[in-house]
Amino acid sequence: MTAVKIVFSSTTGNTEGIAEILEEEFQALDADVEVIDADDDVDEDVFEDADVCVVATYTDGDGEIPFNLQEFYEELPDIDLDGKVFGVVGSGDSELYPDAFCQAAIDFEKAFEATGATKGADTVKIENAAEDDDIDTLKAFVAALL
Ligand SMILES: Cc1cc2nc3c(=O)[nH]c(=O)nc-3n(C[C@H](O)[C@H](O)[C@H](O)COP(=O)(O)O)c2cc1C
Repeated sequence: MTAVKIVFSSTTGNTEGIAEILEEEFQALDADVEVIDADDDVDEDVFEDADVCVVATYTDGDGEIPFNLQEFYEELPDIDLDGKVFGVVGSGDSELYPDAFCQAAIDFEKAFEATGATKGADTVKIENAAEDDDIDTLKAFVAALL
């Protein structure tokens, strides 16, 4: 069974909802999924026993990584994830932040690229909370990662 770990950061619930959709879709495809809230501290070795590594993050400030993911973000490029697959989902607001839409997700993708992991799917950028239209995109994202 493919082991999947989803690390998410969320303040108002949008990204948490996205993480829940991802969890359901991975389970529907018989993956073994664990969801980790960044509020509970993200250990440097969080992805050690995962085949598929997922980060779901909102963007804070003006294109900034959420406070509770900053330490992990800085550590990530130095973590060896060779042989694993990664994917990133972002939630952001393109109307209020057109020049920094989902910047944290874009930055996480770059950090993952330094780990030796393979990008299994294009980074998904969701406008605030996931709507019905986004479900198909998230389903395709999950299927591509497995
Ligand atoms: C203070 C603040 C700063 C934000 N900065 C950005 C930003 O730079 N880029 C972006 O795309 N969205 C930005 N947003 C929008 C949030 O990322 C977006 O609403 C997201 O869905 C929140 O996710 P959450 O409900 O999981 O906390 C910002 C929101 C707040 C409140």
